[in-house]
Amino acid sequence: IPVDSFDLVIFGGTGDLARRKILPGLFRRFRAGQMPADAQVIGAARSDMDDAAFREMVREAIVEFGGNGTPDPGDLDAFLERVAYQSVDAKGEAGWSELEDKLRDDCVRAFYFSVGPSLFGDLAERLRTFGLATETSRIVVEKPFGNDLESARALNRELAQYFDETQIYRIDHYLGKETVQNLMAVRFGNVLFEPLWNAQFVDHIQITVAETVGVGGRGGYYDHSGAMRDMVQNHLMQLLCLIAMEPPAQFEPDAVRDEKLKVIRALDPVEPHHIVRGQYGADEKQPGYRAHVENERSRTESFVALKAHISNWRWAGTPFYLRTGKMLRARASEIAVVFKDAPHSIFGAEAGRHRNVLAIRLQPNEGMTLDVTIKEPGPGGMRLLDVPLDMSFADALGPDGGEVPDAYERLVMDVIRGNQTLFMRGDEVEAAWAWTDPLIDSWEARGDVPKPYDPGSSGPEDALMLMHRDGRRWRDIK
Ligand code: BG6
Repeated sequence: IPVDSFDLVIFGGTGDLARRKILPGLFRRFRAGQMPADAQVIGAARSDMDDAAFREMVREAIVEFGGNGTPDPGDLDAFLERVAYQSVDAKGEAGWSELEDKLRDDCVRAFYFSVGPSLFGDLAERLRTFGLATETSRIVVEKPFGNDLESARALNRELAQYFDETQIYRIDHYLGKETVQNLMAVRFGNVLFEPLWNAQFVDHIQITVAETVGVGGRGGYYDHSGAMRDMVQNHLMQLLCLIAMEPPAQFEPDAVRDEKLKVIRALDPVEPHHIVRGQYGADEKQPGYRAHVENERSRTESFVALKAHISNWRWAGTPFYLRTGKMLRARASEIAVVFKDAPHSIFGAEAGRHRNVLAIRLQPNEGMTLDVTIKEPGPGGMRLLDVPLDMSFADALGPDGGEVPDAYERLVMDVIRGNQTLFMRGDEVEAAWAWTDPLIDSWEARGDVPKPYDPGSSGPEDALMLMHRDGRRWRDIK
């Protein structure tokens, strides 16, 4: 579906995120025919550069990060004609009037702040002062949205001076992932699951986001952040909300976001002994976390596992186990809903314990499995066995449906469409910080040292114990 014509200005247009995600994503939408022929993409950054040099940078970025083989040169040239550059000083006056001259009046104006949060206020203020922002303009802001409740509130207040909440698009790229949106389709598009989706039938829920990469070149940022701020406060929290929320009355921005907010507000504070923090060590192939961040005394966690409880009618008593970490055994993100045992086994104790598990695989190899109990084939009496009903989305959707669009592609188009459903509202972000802040404060006050774990493992031993103590176990990371 084509969108209205737009001018999209990307502040930080020469940065990593723009080159890896935003620009290649826009190119794919262009190629798919979704971007109107007269739309403009304007990179804006501090460096002096002309349109031609910026286009060359964009071309290289698309070739390197665009995916799906070498792009057709004709397509790429046509896209680059829609691309321009303007140097601006985010904290000064230079370049703003020139940028304004490049914008058209009769189209959607969107401004993507692909820069650190310390510049959000300056950019917002200048968009108003220099008359670039109109009543229908949108701004898009990236994470980290603050690094605690206080800083997030300050950012919200700062942006609110210049823009209405309906104009602010806070990105959590997990919400743009196809499979994450699919969580809502599975829950609310089927009659099968919702009646069982509560504490009466669900024993517990596991949410895992495991990565094989380390902190890479982002050590400076990451060491001040850690897994709790970098992943749990936003991405895992969003997954938790989608899996736990009440059905919204409509699939509309505030209806969905109201329900997510209620989940966050119903989260109990986590007991300190229900959290395990880990930090990866070295192995023969590479140095460990502390060498990566160049801080030999770092106490920052690259892994977190925790047990959360939601105090409401639907979920009272059902634990939610969350874990995420870097340098783990496999890249695997999964949500598993583990149902309770059948109330009575007519097959006797020797039939063992069998459970239905609905596992939603977010990435890679997106799909769903539902473990069901059947009779083990053969003459050996009534022996039971759990087997998965297995659905890979790529197989189910066939060769053409198999290409999963990148999260940024979807989200940028939603900005142009003016649809905020998959973006975080200010109060949601604040509520999420209000939940994580006391946990972070408590381990900082205690001087807690994260438990070491081996690269390529499933995280520290204590994380396994977190579940073993409850008579449960994590699903394998594979
Ligand atoms: C980012 C985090 O938000 O998400 C990174 O800052 C993390 O540390 C990344 O690696 C994971 O995203 P994805 O899409 O690769 O699962």
